[in-house]
Amino acid sequence: MPAFTATAPGKIILFGEHAVVYGEPAIAVPVSSVQTRAVVNAVIGGSSGEIQIEAPDISLSAAVMELDPDHPLRAAVMAVLGDKDPGEMPACNIRISSSIPVASGLGSGAAVSAALIRALSAFLGQRLTDEQVSHLIFEVEKIHHDTPSGIDNTVIAHQKPIYYVKGEPFQFLSIESPFSILIADSGIPGHTQEAVQRVRQNWINNPDRFDLLFKSIGGISKMSKELIQSGSPADIGPLMNENHLLLQELGVSTPELDHLVDAARQAGALGAKLSGGGLGGNIIVLVDEGIDKITEALTKSGAVHTLNSTIPSNQISTD
Ligand code: MEV
Repeated sequence: MPAFTATAPGKIILFGEHAVVYGEPAIAVPVSSVQTRAVVNAVIGGSSGEIQIEAPDISLSAAVMELDPDHPLRAAVMAVLGDKDPGEMPACNIRISSSIPVASGLGSGAAVSAALIRALSAFLGQRLTDEQVSHLIFEVEKIHHDTPSGIDNTVIAHQKPIYYVKGEPFQFLSIESPFSILIADSGIPGHTQEAVQRVRQNWINNPDRFDLLFKSIGGISKMSKELIQSGSPADIGPLMNENHLLLQELGVSTPELDHLVDAARQAGALGAKLSGGGLGGNIIVLVDEGIDKITEALTKSGAVHTLNSTIPSNQISTD
């Protein structure tokens, strides 16, 4: 019997993290230079319901049904099964591998769910649309934090740049001119759940001020969408800087992230900001020329890993 394999890319948020949880727009793009892969093999002679999962990157080898019910890998398997009895599932082995750094803002959790959901549903002979995959990833994401906006699952399931407003149909983003970004990992694990809770508490304590901050971030996402769609990506640099200031105000930056952002700008970047939940994780840098110099400056300033990615132009109609 053949193996059933699926892959999923990472993602990076260009604009609008956190504010997107409060109904403001955000922009995210897939990062295909990092990938998660899931491979499902039938276990010939195994008993029904024996689902074994191996994830060597996190030293996991276990029977799925012995994992904690809240474990995201078990939740992803259960999401595929829906109301089917796991005990009746043909015996299989699921192997997960990933080059997406964990807790860095690159959507590793959503990508693992995406690859697993696609490979397992193919093994079971179900064909899922991208939208169905997105919906199932979202169910798993709710374990990570209670109020996910839905941006991570959407960009990872559809594997295209998107402009996203929670609760509204998302739009694919048309990229008129390609642009280059650098992603630099602070080496400090990001804490999305904690960051989302911190922002919520700050908002509860000071709703007027935080509503204004969210609106300002939303305005930046809208302006950036126009600039990207009209072929002026270099002009989003100053908006990235502004978005970073607003994320600082929300309380999700750290001295290490600020230091990396400053270093990138001083080395000639067009703009830089933290990306994702914050409190660690990655920054994203818009680069034009001097990528080597900026990479070196980031490494000297504490980045443990840098990733260069080009966002290609595409042919998406935005009518
Ligand atoms: C996390 O990748 C992005 C946040 O905006 C949370 C969310 O959108 O659910 C911080």
